[in-house]
Order: sequence, then C-alpha cells, then structure tokens
Amino acid sequence: MKILVVGSGGREHAVIKKLKENPAVETVYALPGNGGIARDAVCADVAATDVDGVVAFAKAHAVDYAVVTPDDPLVLGEVDAFEAAGVPCFGPRKNAAVIEGSKVFAKDFMKKYGIPTAAYEVFDDADAALRYLDTAPIPTVVKADGLALGKGVTVAMTRDEARDAVRSAMLDKKFGESGAKIVIEEYLTGPEVSVLSFTDGETVVPMVSSMDHKRAFDGDEGPNTGGMGTVAPNPYYTDEIARTCMQTIFLPTVRGMAAEGRPFKGCLYFGLMLTPQGPKVIEYNCRFGDPETQVVLPLLESDLLTVMQAVTNGTLADCPVVFRDGSAACVIMASKGYPVSYEKGFAITIPEGLDATVYVAGAKEQGGELLTNGGRVLGVTATADTLRAALDKAYAAVGAIHFDNAYYRRDIGERALRAKEV
Ligand code: AMP
Ligand code: GLY
Repeated sequence: MKILVVGSGGREHAVIKKLKENPAVETVYALPGNGGIARDAVCADVAATDVDGVVAFAKAHAVDYAVVTPDDPLVLGEVDAFEAAGVPCFGPRKNAAVIEGSKVFAKDFMKKYGIPTAAYEVFDDADAALRYLDTAPIPTVVKADGLALGKGVTVAMTRDEARDAVRSAMLDKKFGESGAKIVIEEYLTGPEVSVLSFTDGETVVPMVSSMDHKRAFDGDEGPNTGGMGTVAPNPYYTDEIARTCMQTIFLPTVRGMAAEGRPFKGCLYFGLMLTPQGPKVIEYNCRFGDPETQVVLPLLESDLLTVMQAVTNGTLADCPVVFRDGSAACVIMASKGYPVSYEKGFAITIPEGLDATVYVAGAKEQGGELLTNGGRVLGVTATADTLRAALDKAYAAVGAIHFDNAYYRRDIGERALRAKEV
C-alpha cells in the first residue's frame, strides 16, 4: 500500500513511524515532511495547505490512503477534496473540522448540547467587548474565533491585559480575520488533560490520556509554546473521571455533531480541565495533538492503519483498539529563544543505539547532515513500565543528542510524578 501523510512536524513523524509497523505499507509519502521525516518517508515539496497540489500528488502517485493531520488543511476542506478525487482519507471533513476552526461554533455547540465548558460571551464589536470587560470577573480568558497558530488565547490576570488582548485581536487584527469575532470566557482552574479519540461519527474510542507542558520554562513559567513535552497516561485522569467524560463530554459531542449533519470522522482531541465542578472542555481540536501524539501512539498496541481505516469505513465499533500498560514521556528539544526568536542551521548529532525514539519536527537535510530548522527541533520519546523510568530514558537520550543552542525543559513529568504520590 502507498500512504500519504500531510504535514511536517514531530506529530507527523510519529504517525508515519507507527503506520510503517504494518507490513502492508510499502511506501509512505510526506507532504512536505522534513529532513528527519525523509529517513522514514518520501518527502515532496508540496505545502500542506495546497489542497489542489496535495490531491494531484496523491493521484499522480496512485496513493491508496491519505492521512491529513494539521489543522489548517482540515479546516480548508482537504479531506473533502481527497474524497471528491476518490482517495480514501483519514480526517474530518470541513464541516466537522469547524469544531476547531471556530471557537464560536464550538462554544455555541457545547451550549446547545449541554456539554460542560466555561461560561462565555461572543463579540464581533471591540467597543462592546471592552464595555463588557469593565465589569467582567477577573481573571478572564480572551480567545480569537479562528485559527491563530496556537497564539489566539490570552489568559488575562488583570482587566488591562484582557483589554489589550481584545484590542490586538479586533482593532490591530493581530490574527487577521481569525480575530474578527472573539470569545470572552470564564477562567477555570484545575489540572489539564488531553484526550485524543478515534471516532467514525458514531462510535468514539478514547486513546490513552496525556499531559502537555505548554509553557516555555521550568515550573510552568514563561510564554506559551506549541508544547515542550508530554507524558502518558495522565495520572489525574482516573477511571472514574474517564467514565464521567464519556457520558458528559465524548458521547454528547460525537452524537451532537452527527445530529448537526456534521459527523466527525478522524481524531477528535478533547482539551479538558478537571475543575472542582467536574471535567469541562477547554478546547476541541480536529486532529492529533502535537506533542501528545508522540507519547500516545508509542503506547498503541493495535495496528494504526487498521484503526484509521475502520474510522474511514464507519466500522470502528468492530475494531479493537488496545493500548499497552506502562508510560511514555516525550521531551522537546527546542532552539534557544523559542517561541519568540531563535537561530537555525546548527548541525544535529544523534548517536546510534539510543534507548528512545527521536521524532524530528524542525530540521532539514543538507549534504547528508541534519540541521536545525525550526523552534521545536526534536521530540525524544521513551516508554517504560513506570513514568519515572520513561522519563529517565528520555532524558538520558536528550543528554546524548547535540546541537548548538539546544534548549529543553528539565521538569517534564514532575507534576505527573507528584500527582501519582498523592
Ligand atoms: P490553547 O491555545 O487553546 O491551547 O489554550 C492555551 C491554554 O490556555 C490552555 O491550555 C489553558 O491552559 C488555558 N485556557 C484556555 N481556556 C481557559 C479557561 N477558560 N480557563 C483557564 N485557562 C484556560
Ligand atoms: N499540544 C496541543 C495541541 O496540539 O494543540
């Protein structure tokens, strides 16, 4: 079989490595991929969002199955385009990807179906939003409606911070049209849990839970990033909480989307907060998380391609999805200065025989060498019977890998380890 994976990050590398475990997979193409992915797949220089180009590539190379992982092409309707061209494809159609593409849609949807989430107001006028902020409870959270490269959310601890967020989204148009509407919502507290799930529009199968570390610096300080590391499972997510989430969040979401005529097929990501009032949805993503995928898929025992095809065919109810016991940890090695500004082009040395898997996110190949080419450069993942052992293995591998200006958090998993002791 020939498979095409659209995207270029560590998440895509993890998907590709997992798909290749199936002996029926002969060739994997990655569009555009990166210098590290090129060691596992045939990369070609077609942008993920070039819908016509991506579909034409699939037809020209007789691709049997396509997987679209990043948010932008999904929201643009790339899966619809694959379907129209007769190429079976993993991922939600445009009318379902809106669950991530529009926060206003997601919030109104949750309200309609009684799915627990933060209370909110929607604004399409800056003056009205600023007037509302004169009396709104503080802290508060300001969210641009549309996709904003993960930067559209401001958790404002003061009224002035909230006002600045409104002005920069609506008046300065920092996120372009994505900020034409905004959501201002209640500030929630509690541990965060990421739950990725497979769903074919009817059946929903949650994957092992995980914990992201979004802030740049140790101790959850510094600016928000795309994610500096992950662990799975998330110790805060007990079996009892999982049962509650299935009844109050996962099933109502999948059934609600179907009732709206927007059946969601693909990976639906639930960003949850375990508040004192119970689990609530912070955000939906219409795709695998990055770097959650780098700890979730290594624990998947079942064949990923078989599960994905069951999603596409609507037969997920008959498809076993099994995760192995044990833990996984992923430490992101980034370029110093990420997410603000950083240099690129440093040679990466990865020794042979590491007891860990290196997923490449931001690197290019030049003259047989791998050079840094992004903010997040590598995701170093290890699995073991315990979280402590997985972390030790991951950090040992990180210590053996070198590139100039490498930066990584030293406390990935610490919070999870403390939670386990309680
Ligand atoms: P996002 O950019 O959508 O991943 O959101 C970034 C982070 O903002 C989330 O991971 C949460 O930590 C935080 N956040 C979003 N919404 C809320 C909320 N209603 N209350 C508290 N924190 C929030
Ligand atoms: N790690 C969070 C995300 O993928 O959106």
